[in-house]
Amino acid sequence: MSTESTVLPYFNQPAPEIVPMVHLEAGHKRVLMQHFRTLTSRDRYLRFGCAISDEQMQNYINQIDFNQDEIFGIFNHKLELIAVAHIGISRMPKDTGEAEFGVSVIPKAQGKGFGYRLFQRAVLFARNHGIQTLTLQCLSENGPMMHIVRKAGMTVQSSHGETMASLKIPPANLPSVLDEWMQSASAKADLAIKKMTYRAAAPS
Ligand SMILES: CC(C)(COP(=O)(O)OP(=O)(O)OC[C@H]1O[C@@H](n2cnc3c(N)ncnc32)[C@H](O)[C@@H]1OP(=O)(O)O)[C@@H](O)C(=O)NCCC(=O)NCCS
Repeated sequence: MSTESTVLPYFNQPAPEIVPMVHLEAGHKRVLMQHFRTLTSRDRYLRFGCAISDEQMQNYINQIDFNQDEIFGIFNHKLELIAVAHIGISRMPKDTGEAEFGVSVIPKAQGKGFGYRLFQRAVLFARNHGIQTLTLQCLSENGPMMHIVRKAGMTVQSSHGETMASLKIPPANLPSVLDEWMQSASAKADLAIKKMTYRAAAPS
C-alpha cells in the first residue's frame, strides 16, 4: 500500500494563515461585555435571535459556565476582542454528546473570514472533547451565517424563519489533537506578544 497518496496531498497544500483563537475564562467577562457592546442592534438581534439590551447581555455573560462551556476569542493588535465563539455544551442528565455553537464578529472585522475560522476551531474542539454533534441555530435571513453553514456542509432544517443546523463530528485522532495543541499554544504566545507590544507602545 502506498502512503504517498494519503500523506503528500495534505502536506502539499499551502498552509492557511494563522488566526490565533484564545481560550477565554471568567476573567475575560469585562472584555466580553465590551465585545457585545460593539455589535450593532441588528447584529445583536442576529446573534441572540431577539433584540437584547446591555443588561440582558450582561446577564448572558454572567450565566456562562466557564468550567463547562468553551469560549474562544480573537484579539487584534490593540487587544480589542473582535470575534467570539461560544460552544455551549449540553448539560442534559443523559449526555447527548451535543454542543451548540454561537458566534459574533464586530462590524469592522466582519467579512474577513474570522467567523468561519472560529467555526472550524469549534469543530476541532468538539472533535477532541468527545462531542458527537455540533449544532447551530440562526435566523434564516442571516446571509453570512447561512453561507458558513452551507460551506461547512451542515445538515439544515428551516422553518418559520429559523434554521437549525447540525454537523456530525468525527472522533479525535493524533493529527486533530496535535493541531489543537499547536493552535492553543500559538494563540497564547500571540496574545502575550500583543500585550507586550501594545503596553510598550502605550503612552505612560
Ligand atoms: C455571522 C458572522 C459571525 C459571520 O462572521 P464573518 O467573520 O463576517 O464571516 P466570514 O468572513 O468568515 O464568512 C462570511 C461569508 O459569508 C459570505 N457572505 C457575506 N454576506 C453574505 C450574504 N448577505 N449572503 C450570503 N453570503 C454572504 C461572505 O462572502 C463569506 O463567505 P466566503 O468566505 O466563502 O467568501 C458575523 O457576520 C456576525 O457577527 N454577525 C452578527 C451575529 C450573528 O449573526 N451571529 C450568528 C448567529 S449564531
